[in-house]
Amino acid sequence: MSTTTNSAPKLWGLPDERELAAFAAGRLAEYLPGLAYPAAGYAPGPEAGEPNPSYAPLVVAQDGATPGAQAASDAGAPVSPPRQAALPYVGEYPLEKIRADFPILAEKIKGRQLVWLDNAATTQRPGQVIERLRYYYEHENSNVHRGAHALAGRSTDAYEGARAKVAAFIGASGPESVVFVRGATEALNLVANAYVRPLLRPGDEIILTLLEHHSNIVPWQILAEETGALLRVAPVDASGQILVSEYAKLFNRNTRFVSVTHVSNALGTVTPLEELIAVAHARGVRICVDGAQSVSHMPVDVSALDADFFAFSGHKIFGPTGIGVLYGKSELLEAARPWQGGGNMIADVTFARTSYKKAPEKFEAGTGNIAGAVGLGAAIDYVSAIGMDNIARYEQELLAYGIDELRRVPGLRPVGTATRRAGVLSFVLDGRNPEDVGRYLNEAGIAVRAGHHCAQPVLRHFGYEATVRPSIAFYNTPGEIEHLARTLLSLARLHG
Ligand code: ALA
Repeated sequence: MSTTTNSAPKLWGLPDERELAAFAAGRLAEYLPGLAYPAAGYAPGPEAGEPNPSYAPLVVAQDGATPGAQAASDAGAPVSPPRQAALPYVGEYPLEKIRADFPILAEKIKGRQLVWLDNAATTQRPGQVIERLRYYYEHENSNVHRGAHALAGRSTDAYEGARAKVAAFIGASGPESVVFVRGATEALNLVANAYVRPLLRPGDEIILTLLEHHSNIVPWQILAEETGALLRVAPVDASGQILVSEYAKLFNRNTRFVSVTHVSNALGTVTPLEELIAVAHARGVRICVDGAQSVSHMPVDVSALDADFFAFSGHKIFGPTGIGVLYGKSELLEAARPWQGGGNMIADVTFARTSYKKAPEKFEAGTGNIAGAVGLGAAIDYVSAIGMDNIARYEQELLAYGIDELRRVPGLRPVGTATRRAGVLSFVLDGRNPEDVGRYLNEAGIAVRAGHHCAQPVLRHFGYEATVRPSIAFYNTPGEIEHLARTLLSLARLHG
């Protein structure tokens, strides 16, 4: 097996073996004096060994608003507030109706109602997406762009219609800026190889942040190893937020490109994207945004952000797997060289030379996931009907509620406490292996990811190899959060 090793950690701004060992030994303070952990502002729950409070959920208002200050002041109080009679609304839509749209949410796991809190890994699909795929295969299936028959026309219309929906959804200037790919990972590899690689000379530098998941690290490492370029990594503060002033210091005359996440998949941190983009552009450097964890949680406008590239996956926004999007400014996509060669991306082929179509076709060699793109279009229709503003507002309330509820579990330590967060409630439980916590939750029907979340560098920075990561979507309910907290409390009470 071939592996990519970090042969010059200091040059790359990464910890070396000794420092990693120090993290593992829990001596973060030694490595970063002045950095307190847990983060300032984090009010820990009762320590393990203290008498356990009896768990009682915080009151959720009838309108779905989370009790803010009231809830915080009640935290830990052994009360049994009246349960809400009805689920809240997301925008104009009752949560009951939304949940009924997702057939899998009715699934039973070990005789218990499924509680899907693994949305950062993948989201579930509404019936509208499933039906759209069925309709495509029953009435429209054909290859696109080729052939003069009726189904080729239907299929092409559906595929290009989906592209237009994506463009409008993310605020792109037009569909020609939207490339369909396999997922965010392929999108990032495409940027690295088709746009950045030809720019690089030995000694050039690419800036990433410590928050990146492996899809936004490894493609750049491979590129750096093959070109002699160097990676520079922007650090984070004790809450898991990027230190913009430190990020700005990484730029120099050798900086060629920046790639940053919008939302951390491991910590939930929402990065200060406007500032990160502004700093890069002020230094004349292009920047790619990994939006895999943001597009399903908040409105995104790539034009307003002035992002040069933006990548996301369909399956993390209620669409099919195997389809994703790379947005790129038109002039940058035109400047990039082809990604993969083959049919569909060519204008003319001879054995002497080949000419290529313009973007986006230039990057869509072969037969892609046509049905997946159409299904993604249906997913975008679905969330757009509810409204991304409404989804963001509801999820922020649910997340705040989850933070308050989990704080009441003795020995639970949140990992990632940035003020701006989305989607994710990462934690460790004193004395418990995260994988064991995940298995225990599964016994109660609760699905969470427990592990390194494909983001080992940032977890190791905080001294962990793994965390438990419940992650929410707009179909999750306050009751599910309560079930999570109750189950964790029962685990925390077990001995051994
Ligand atoms: N990056 C995905 C996750 O966060 C797979 O789980």
